[in-house]
Amino acid sequence: MKCTLMHKRIAVAKLDLDDETGFIRKIEKVIRAEHLPVGVPVRQGIADRRELNHWWTDRSIPASRSGVREALETLNLTDTKMLLVRCFGLSLSDQYWICPDGSDLVWEKINFFDNPFSDDMGDVLFGQQKKGNDFDFSSPDNTSDGCLKKRWKIINGKRCLIKGGSNPYRQQPFNEVIATKIMARLGIEHVPYSILWEKGEPYSVCEDFVTADTELISAWRIMQTQKKENSKSVYRHFVDCCQTLGAPDVVPALDKMIVLDYLIANEDRHLNNFGLLRNAETLEWLGFAPVFDSGSSLGYDKLNAEIRANKNITCKPFKKRHEDQLKLVSDFGWIKTDCLADLGKTAEEVFSDARVAEFIDESRVQAITESVQRRVSYLEEFINAQVPAEDSTEGDVEENIAEDYLPKM
Ligand SMILES: Nc1ncnc2c1ncn2[C@@H]1O[C@H](COP(=O)(O)OP(=O)(O)O)[C@@H](O)[C@H]1O
Ligand SMILES: [Mg+2]
Repeated sequence: MKCTLMHKRIAVAKLDLDDETGFIRKIEKVIRAEHLPVGVPVRQGIADRRELNHWWTDRSIPASRSGVREALETLNLTDTKMLLVRCFGLSLSDQYWICPDGSDLVWEKINFFDNPFSDDMGDVLFGQQKKGNDFDFSSPDNTSDGCLKKRWKIINGKRCLIKGGSNPYRQQPFNEVIATKIMARLGIEHVPYSILWEKGEPYSVCEDFVTADTELISAWRIMQTQKKENSKSVYRHFVDCCQTLGAPDVVPALDKMIVLDYLIANEDRHLNNFGLLRNAETLEWLGFAPVFDSGSSLGYDKLNAEIRANKNITCKPFKKRHEDQLKLVSDFGWIKTDCLADLGKTAEEVFSDARVAEFIDESRVQAITESVQRRVSYLEEFINAQVPAEDSTEGDVEENIAEDYLPKM
């Protein structure tokens, strides 16, 4: 299929897509190189097809998404890439899309920020059978990332992301709310999450923080804008890439995200779980995106005893150990000590709904509460010790891999 890669109303490149696989077979012409997805190199007017295919593939639902195999079977499709073309690659996190040659589609009429979208795809992703033959594929669910079961829904006129938790504890939705409360207390810019119960199961809900004018560019894409030298730490490479692009106030925002992730023992802050916001038309960098996806934390997949023992906690995206990552923080001055008091209680309150007990028992709630309080104490000790900020490659994370929630052997 011949089509144009569009960025809102701007034609970016002419593409030839393979109808069978959804792969980009050829980039026939680059029209506006500066509007190509961030980190896709252009040399002498020729865009890197491999890198553009990476970006395009990353836009489809990951094969590791909970429930996706069943959804593909229901739709009689073999690959989630096939879904991309059917919604013109439209998303609620950025402004890219593809316009097939010969069609009269215009941005105003088809974007999901201003126009309604179908619930069909979300229904199938949430386990329903396909309804009849008039299935409507126009949905931002075809381009959503991440492994947890999720769907976009318009609630009271607002575009909201509804996301489940992994078995057996279904803890991620509650963790999102705990993280929300901690960030509100500490003054960290964040996406607020709340709990939604549906058919006795907990989900988290948050509003779209991207608008029809802005877009989220993941840290992973930012890191592709320069080649990382071996002698540079992952942290320094990210900060340098942001600085070269001209994104403002990244270091203070990273300080805050690292402190949050320490407090909640976040295990999945990989490079697609944070990023920058920019204006999609002017390409002006607006700064660090509000913190989202903090659910894979607080021992979400661990046994109660493991949470108590405070063991085997993975750390991302910069260092493999949270204690080392904390050493990257250059300023703790924004933390008011009284904001840290009682954070354990804040966590406990989130589990107070009687419906929680089916998934998380009282002993687990206590283990989580105590673990938060313990980490608050460590953080206070760490701040008081005035350890100078450190920046070396020692203990760096080597690969950017997202948690897949498959049962551990
Ligand atoms: N509130 C939001 N507004 C816009 N885009 C979002 C929002 N929340 C998440 N996203 C996008 O959707 C992707 C998947 O959501 P995420 O919460 O990270 O799910 P998961 O926990 O499965 O990784 C994110 O990587 C981000 O690109
Ligand atoms: Mg995520």
